[in-house]
Amino acid sequence: MTSLDLVKMVTGNFLGVVVLLEMIVSGSRFGANGMSMNYYMMSCPFAEPIVKNTVIRALQADPTLAAALLRMHFHDCFIEGCDGSVLVDSTKDNTAEKDSPANLSLRGYEVIDDAKEELEEQCPGVVSCADILAMAARDAVFWAGGPVYDIPKGRKDGRRSKIEDTINLPAPFFNASQLIKMFGQHGFSVQEVVALSGAHTLGVARCSSFKSRLSAADPNLEADFANTLSKTCSAGDNAEQPFDSTRNSFDNFYFNALQRKSGVLGSDQTLYATPRTRGIVNGYAMNQAMFFFDFQQAMLKMSTLDVKEGSKGEVRESCRKIN
Ligand code: HEM
Ligand SMILES: *[C@@H]1O[C@H](CO)[C@@H](O)[C@H](O)[C@H]1NC(C)=O
Ligand SMILES: *[C@@H]1O[C@H](CO)[C@@H](O)[C@H](O)[C@H]1NC(C)=O
Repeated sequence: MTSLDLVKMVTGNFLGVVVLLEMIVSGSRFGANGMSMNYYMMSCPFAEPIVKNTVIRALQADPTLAAALLRMHFHDCFIEGCDGSVLVDSTKDNTAEKDSPANLSLRGYEVIDDAKEELEEQCPGVVSCADILAMAARDAVFWAGGPVYDIPKGRKDGRRSKIEDTINLPAPFFNASQLIKMFGQHGFSVQEVVALSGAHTLGVARCSSFKSRLSAADPNLEADFANTLSKTCSAGDNAEQPFDSTRNSFDNFYFNALQRKSGVLGSDQTLYATPRTRGIVNGYAMNQAMFFFDFQQAMLKMSTLDVKEGSKGEVRESCRKIN
């Protein structure tokens, strides 16, 4: 055998490996990081329906949990990537993300626990908490009347959840440039910032999140709505103000409210006040289908932020506890 033969053999094999890899990767544009739409097809074929049924059962009992699940997924993905870090309980040696003031009333942990429990019975040690949360948020949006979309699975659960990391969540007093900058660091466009903010079509904010807007006259806050907010706050810091008139329906009323200068958070109203984002708000206010389409794309992107694969993560036994 000449050395040329050897080179041919080696490169031949190398090409073979590349072709094989390409075959595995193709069929899924997320293949490169090990995720795919049918990730659990062999290992836990009923993973999706199990999560969906758990979510539907929970939302039938308490429709406000749709907002809670969507928000939890956002907080998960922005800190340490979509790795279930938001679900971890504090221990005596570690104060977890969920105990940050920025956890602000996150709810719905029991829904994830319920789904996890059932999945552990059906296919122990297979389905990650990060995937459960991503699917639950997706199912909650659809249940509330929003767009339906498929997401790739294969997120592994992280081994870090620290209170100090939550400094990387956006604050309700951020102006549009600050929002654009923070979301831009995660690869989102200006349009995607506005689309994702449309998640505030679901749910409520507590007075403590917006009361700073009420101390001085604000040209970007309609006078009657300012009175409404003040009235809410007269019941205390934890009193809840719905973001729009339909707190459990996923629609585009949030954007109509911004046009009336009746956005609840400073970070909501700034999207209309700022020329750079106003046109996008107007577009979504006029065309709900366009909002749904862009929201769905942006959620897909958010749901794959900094995902951990392989040995970079684990499949937690309990979503509240690192293995
Ligand atoms: C643009 C930057 C964002 C800021 C500054 C922000 C801030 C907030 C704040 C302060 C609250 C109220 C918390 C409270 O007072 O208890 C809230 C609620 C909520 N946020 Fe955001 N958020 C942002 C983006 C997002 C995104 C991207 C999503 C999801 C894709 C989201 C989903 C939600 C939902 C659904 C609620 C209602 C939760 C409930 O009713 O339980 N938010 N957000
Ligand atoms: C959120 O954090 C506060 C402390 O800031 C804590 O008292 C509360 O229990 C936490 N909420 C949840 C659901 O973990
Ligand atoms: C937004 O906030 C930042 C930080 O407070 C400030 O430097 C910037 O000038 C603000 N931008 C606008 C347009 O108000």
